[in-house]
Amino acid sequence: MRAVVYDRYGPPDVLRLEEVERPVPKEDEVLVRVHATTVNRSDAHTREANRGGGLAVTLLSRMVSGLRRPRQPILGNEFAGEVVAAGAAVKEFAVGDRVFGWTGLRFGAHAEFMCVRESARITHMPAGMSFEKAAPICDGALSALMCLKQADLRKGRRILIYGASGAIGTAGVQLARYYDADVTAVCSTKNLELVKSLGADRVIDYTQEDFTKNGQTYHVIFDAVGKHSFKRSRDSLEPGGFFLPTDGFENLILALWPSRTGDKRVVFQLPPRLTKQDVLFLKELVEAGKFRPVIDRCYPLEDVIEATRYVETQHKTGNVVMTIDGGQAA
Ligand SMILES: NC(=O)c1ccc[n+]([C@@H]2O[C@H](COP(=O)([O-])OP(=O)(O)OC[C@H]3O[C@@H](n4cnc5c(N)ncnc54)[C@H](OP(=O)(O)O)[C@@H]3O)[C@@H](O)[C@H]2O)c1
Repeated sequence: MRAVVYDRYGPPDVLRLEEVERPVPKEDEVLVRVHATTVNRSDAHTREANRGGGLAVTLLSRMVSGLRRPRQPILGNEFAGEVVAAGAAVKEFAVGDRVFGWTGLRFGAHAEFMCVRESARITHMPAGMSFEKAAPICDGALSALMCLKQADLRKGRRILIYGASGAIGTAGVQLARYYDADVTAVCSTKNLELVKSLGADRVIDYTQEDFTKNGQTYHVIFDAVGKHSFKRSRDSLEPGGFFLPTDGFENLILALWPSRTGDKRVVFQLPPRLTKQDVLFLKELVEAGKFRPVIDRCYPLEDVIEATRYVETQHKTGNVVMTIDGGQAA
């Protein structure tokens, strides 16, 4: 089968399309023919061993992914495709089922075929959805869900979502809306209309206004893009308020050392807890019309380097999809 592989950490050019052996499903696994996948920040961070996070983060990243070289040569953690074979013990899926899901740090989706355990984060695709649209359901939304679950969101609670136009941000706005919170979203001029259409009660253009200077306060500030900080947000938080980061070593320290943050809290879930139940929940939201993954660009698998370079600009809107053989079932 064809797959995008890499055998050393580095820039996007370390990726190459190659013929590799097609995996064979174990008793409890299904073999999925992947029709669509994504390139996201997890792929990019892992491929370069989180070089931008500093020495401690790089070391941690290499301990997880392989100290000298990557143990898993195929990236890609989101997939949508068709079951083409199932192990003898598999009950939930049958050949021909259309499925989607998230493989987390196991990756493997930048390939024509992949094996996934029945009990893993995989489920049937929402009815009537294309592979291209189903592939980006999970990565941003699972991260946003994990963060927001910890913030006691409900009617009457005010949340500010910083970086509301990214993969995590666009999902975060829709999830906060689902929880009935009052949502203020911060993004740049070109994304104001989109973010409003996702359910934000109000939007702030960060190129025109600094939200920390307008005197408004929030019960929750969610930095969905890793470009803000607890320090700069502190005065915009209500007493007892939560700052929810998506990365940053400093945030980890603040989360572990609550006396440093006074009557406000930095909440950072490590290790991440993202479950199959969460994937089922997202599927239900999609089917109920309460969540749609935002797609910016779509590339064929062959253009993985170009797709990756675009993701690494850190200016994509929502998600970047890659299709395999046109993204259609045969
Ligand atoms: N370590 C990992 O493996 C890992 C994995 C996944 C995610 N994460 C973290 O999760 C966070 C978000 O990931 P993501 O995939 O959702 O990001 P993303 O989709 O790449 O976010 C890009 C969006 O952020 C906006 N943006 C860029 N600069 C901004 C700024 N200064 N202020 C506000 N918005 C800005 C961009 O729009 P404009 O350019 O128009 O503003 C763009 O729409 C990051 O902190 C990332 O490091 C880490």
